[in-house]
Amino acid sequence: MIPDMRAPFLFLLLSSTLGAIERANAAECTVEHSDNDAIDDSPFLLKAFTDCALDSVIHFERANYSVYTPVTLANLKNVTVHIEGNLNLPSNITQVQQAINATLNQPSTYATPWFYIQGEDVQIFGSDDFEWGRFQGHGQQWWDIGNRVLRPQLATFNVTNGLLSGLKVIKPIAWGWNLPGRNIRAENHFVDAKPDNGTRDNTISFPFNTDGFNLSGQNITVDGYYGHNGDDCVSVINGARDIVAMNGYCGFSSHGLSIGSLGRNGAEHTVQNVLFKNWTMDGAVYGARFKSWTGGRGWADNITWEDITLVDVSTGIFITQNYYDQDKGPRPDNVNKSSTKISNITFRNFVGSLTTNWTDGSCISDPCWNFVPGIDTTKGIIFDLYPETALSISVQDVTIHPFNQSAEATTVLCDPTTLAPGEQDTLGFKCENGPFIATAIVPRSTGSSVGLLASMNILSILCGAVSLMLGLSLA
Ligand SMILES: *[C@@H]1O[C@H](CO)[C@@H](O)[C@H](O)[C@H]1NC(C)=O
Ligand SMILES: *[C@@H]1O[C@H](CO)[C@@H](O)[C@H](O)[C@H]1NC(C)=O
Ligand SMILES: *[C@@H]1O[C@H](CO)[C@@H](O)[C@H](O)[C@H]1NC(C)=O
Ligand SMILES: *[C@@H]1O[C@H](CO)[C@@H](O)[C@H](O)[C@H]1NC(C)=O
Ligand SMILES: *[C@@H]1O[C@H](CO)[C@@H](O)[C@H](O)[C@H]1NC(C)=O
Ligand SMILES: *[C@@H]1O[C@H](CO)[C@@H](O)[C@H](O)[C@H]1NC(C)=O
Ligand SMILES: *[C@@H]1O[C@H](CO)[C@@H](O)[C@H](O)[C@H]1NC(C)=O
Ligand SMILES: *[C@@H]1O[C@H](CO)[C@@H](O)[C@H](O)[C@H]1NC(C)=O
Ligand SMILES: *[C@@H]1O[C@H](CO)[C@@H](O)[C@H](O)[C@H]1NC(C)=O
Ligand SMILES: *[C@@H]1O[C@H](CO)[C@@H](O)[C@H](O)[C@H]1NC(C)=O
Ligand SMILES: *[C@@H]1O[C@H](CO)[C@@H](O)[C@H](O)[C@H]1NC(C)=O
Ligand SMILES: *[C@@H]1O[C@H](CO)[C@@H](O)[C@H](O)[C@H]1NC(C)=O
Repeated sequence: MIPDMRAPFLFLLLSSTLGAIERANAAECTVEHSDNDAIDDSPFLLKAFTDCALDSVIHFERANYSVYTPVTLANLKNVTVHIEGNLNLPSNITQVQQAINATLNQPSTYATPWFYIQGEDVQIFGSDDFEWGRFQGHGQQWWDIGNRVLRPQLATFNVTNGLLSGLKVIKPIAWGWNLPGRNIRAENHFVDAKPDNGTRDNTISFPFNTDGFNLSGQNITVDGYYGHNGDDCVSVINGARDIVAMNGYCGFSSHGLSIGSLGRNGAEHTVQNVLFKNWTMDGAVYGARFKSWTGGRGWADNITWEDITLVDVSTGIFITQNYYDQDKGPRPDNVNKSSTKISNITFRNFVGSLTTNWTDGSCISDPCWNFVPGIDTTKGIIFDLYPETALSISVQDVTIHPFNQSAEATTVLCDPTTLAPGEQDTLGFKCENGPFIATAIVPRSTGSSVGLLASMNILSILCGAVSLMLGLSLA
């Protein structure tokens, strides 16, 4: 793992000469670095984060740090980190693979992070200078040759009371930051996972699985995000509660602002209280997306996407409760006869345009992973619901137009036989395989939309109650 045998000696030398001084000033540590980029600086990181794990400030100088070994920076308590330098992963693919294969870092669901950060009251500030405070993954060369073996996830921030501010993720190999902790704010985050030499539909150079954020923790706010990538900008997964993700831009060929996937292999997964607000989705496969697996269990409740601008996206709004791996054959039998239930799901104020091609470079199976029967370049909304397990879904103020066509040309896929009784009244558009036709929302007393409830009068409450009763009696 250590590419140069001098590294341990240098480490010993520095720790013996500087150790006494550093310990005396344990509240302030500067992470050492070598000027030779062949030398692994990881031991210096471990030392600084051990010496200054408690009530301390840690500085990375304005320099290149070679972080050639995955690191666990754990048991931190009340630590503020200033990253004025850049943290570079190895540019040698084999070296990364061997290191990730051997690391004891705690894995996430699908990958092992290069940086595992754990503790309480931890704040990390990236440099104000755009050229610094960077995590350089050297992912470009992985994408160029389509290498997807033993890829690391960049970082896990498993912290209670945390702040990530002004961090820049440059050419990550794959997944970016995972946030399983609680009481976390991530602000002004930057992601460049756009291949230097590939278009969004090029399957060779596509930056697969370059999710910006995976959120599975509680009370997390993402405020300010600018990124180009080839997977979800923000993915909210099992366990997540009280999430707000706002004020962001997602470019290249992102896969959207996503909930899920939930309920894989019949798992009991839950997500609650999520707001995505004020995002521009430019060139994305989806704007808003919910995904749960065929035969899933659990539930997702109170999820809102609002103030979303779409620029040439494939599908504006997408829900599937019937997801499966299309490249592994036909849809499996739903042996559980179950689905992840969804409720109080709102899509509000979407404007913008669709693109001419509903696929992207991650389409390497036939049919493509995002294929649904009937899909084409006019689909503003696709709802693939499991019968009667979707309650209080509503679409409000949606104006989406296909490329070079007017909004009247926008169509939807929605099977009315999957709707729960009364659901059409609150849906906000006509559930059909056909044109997008907005419909008035008839509020009902169990509805989710507090604002809507507040603004309506007694008469409409009565109408809502009556239509709900009618809906139920017809079922
Ligand atoms: C946190 O650490 C700083 C030093 O970096 C110290 O001044 C402060 O008192 C500590 N806070 C608590 C609550 O201990
Ligand atoms: C840091 O690394 C980059 C890329 O290799 C290089 O261009 C730059 O000169 C280095 N900066 C310093 C201060 O070493
Ligand atoms: C890349 O790393 C591998 C494994 O450490 C090593 O065998 C190989 O020589 C390295 N390649 C280069 C170009 O340094
Ligand atoms: C990963 O590690 C295992 C042993 O833990 C070893 O058998 C395997 O060859 C390693 N793979 C790579 C690609 O290094
Ligand atoms: C992040 O979430 C997405 C969506 O569920 C998933 O595809 C990806 O594997 C997750 N990444 C990690 C590192 O767990
Ligand atoms: C986060 O830390 C908790 C303990 O504080 C641990 O139980 C959990 O597995 C960790 N999660 C991840 C994804 O590392
Ligand atoms: C939620 O997290 C924020 C930090 O982002 C914190 O200020 C706030 O107190 C937390 N709220 C709760 C209810 O813990
Ligand atoms: C892609 O661009 C990189 C520079 O970022 C270059 O080194 C590489 O050779 C290019 N690959 C292909 C297949 O064109
Ligand atoms: C859409 O992109 C796919 C994948 O690159 C390509 O095969 C197909 O020809 C494109 N279709 C159109 C209509 O551009
Ligand atoms: C919406 O987000 C953008 C950043 O993408 C920001 O510049 C703008 O100020 C935000 N708008 C509002 C109303 O907060
Ligand atoms: C729904 O979720 C949002 C976003 O986390 C939260 O602000 C709101 O209080 C939640 N509503 C309910 C009724 O819990
Ligand atoms: C939907 O939200 C309302 C209002 O917050 C709540 O009473 C109801 O329990 C939620 N529905 C479900 C199925 O959780």
